[in-house]
Amino acid sequence: MLQGKWITLGVSGGIAAYKAADLASKLTAQGAAVHVILTAAAARFVGPVTFAGVTGHFVHQDMFANSPDCAIPHIDLASRADLLVIAPATANVLAKLAAGLADDLLSATALAATCPVLVCPAMNAAMYQHPAVQKNLQVLESYGYHILEPASGRMACGTVGKGRLPETSVILEKIYQLLTPQGNLSGLKVLVTAGGTREPIDPVRYISNRSSGKMGYALARAAAQRGARVTLVTTPTALEPPPGVEVVRVETAQQMLEAVMAVYDRVEVVIKAAAVADYRPARMAEQKIKKSDAMLVLELVKNPDILGQLGQHKRPGVTLVGFAAETADLLQNAADKLRRKNLDLIVANDVTVPGAGFGSDTNVVKLLYADGSVKDVPRLDKLELAHLIWDEVLRLRGK
Ligand code: CTP
Repeated sequence: MLQGKWITLGVSGGIAAYKAADLASKLTAQGAAVHVILTAAAARFVGPVTFAGVTGHFVHQDMFANSPDCAIPHIDLASRADLLVIAPATANVLAKLAAGLADDLLSATALAATCPVLVCPAMNAAMYQHPAVQKNLQVLESYGYHILEPASGRMACGTVGKGRLPETSVILEKIYQLLTPQGNLSGLKVLVTAGGTREPIDPVRYISNRSSGKMGYALARAAAQRGARVTLVTTPTALEPPPGVEVVRVETAQQMLEAVMAVYDRVEVVIKAAAVADYRPARMAEQKIKKSDAMLVLELVKNPDILGQLGQHKRPGVTLVGFAAETADLLQNAADKLRRKNLDLIVANDVTVPGAGFGSDTNVVKLLYADGSVKDVPRLDKLELAHLIWDEVLRLRGK
């Protein structure tokens, strides 16, 4: 995702400096060239060898040292960067940046930077709350710096409060957002459903399916990265919801229908990646069903077809996208669903193909459009496929 990007990562001297090594490693794994600046205090927490090891690049500590890839370190590290990230940013670094000091490599680089700057403060909760720190953060915001709020929880000093460096995944998300070219879904209101519904049999059992929710979460994540306002209606999954997304949790198809209808009037695009159970037990037993020697027969009644209902009440300007997970007659079944549910696009996948469908991190699909055209998509990572689906949604919307 970050292929060809130069990220200058400033690490300042707090205990969270050790987490910056994980960040540097993950950014490198995504294809970014990560050039680390360690302040003198940071180097007392984590040594340059660690950062050089995970990034494969020289680690910068001194304004005046010879560096293999920068002639004038503070200028090169600023002008060649697509993004300057300072994580963790200590109270001292925030004060220096706010005042415009340039007495070490990191502060001088920040002054010379014309790329976006992401600042991730991390410190003891009392320090973070201090008016001086809060004022400095306001000043940095007024310079156009992006500030990632610290997380709350237990800190290394033993106190509990706000000041922890957010998890690497949260910082990465913010970085993707800042490096995504144009945020071309900016302001678009979208609804995504994800996961397999659970239809209760009794208080301890339910009927469900193999949906992991990964495709729906990837669609929500990709949309948020590109600036959309995303509502994610999800059944219970093992996944962390993407940051910046409004999450509505449901279990049954009936609850999903209600949650979807509650927001349908406000959205412009709906993508129904959820695997909705077509049937539910006619009655949920109030007590746990005990086994007996007789055969157990479950009576099932039909669930509402949520997407079908959206299609029936489709407003002009709304784009409806469905999924069809099939084991046979892929194109014919998908084309039939597209027509029946009044969709603009259906994403069809044959779940028997290796690397496609439930639980997998990749998917192999065909895209079928209301005008009868079909596109074959090669095997893609689900997040890449999500971005491609959003590209197609934009095209259909004439953008
Ligand atoms: N869907 C829905 N409500 C249902 C069933 C399906 O909203 N009760 C949506 C799914 O989220 C998906 C699309 O409809 O986007 C197709 O789902 P699928 O289960 O493949 O279609 P069905 O119409 O249920 O057909 P099938 O007989 O193959 O199950």
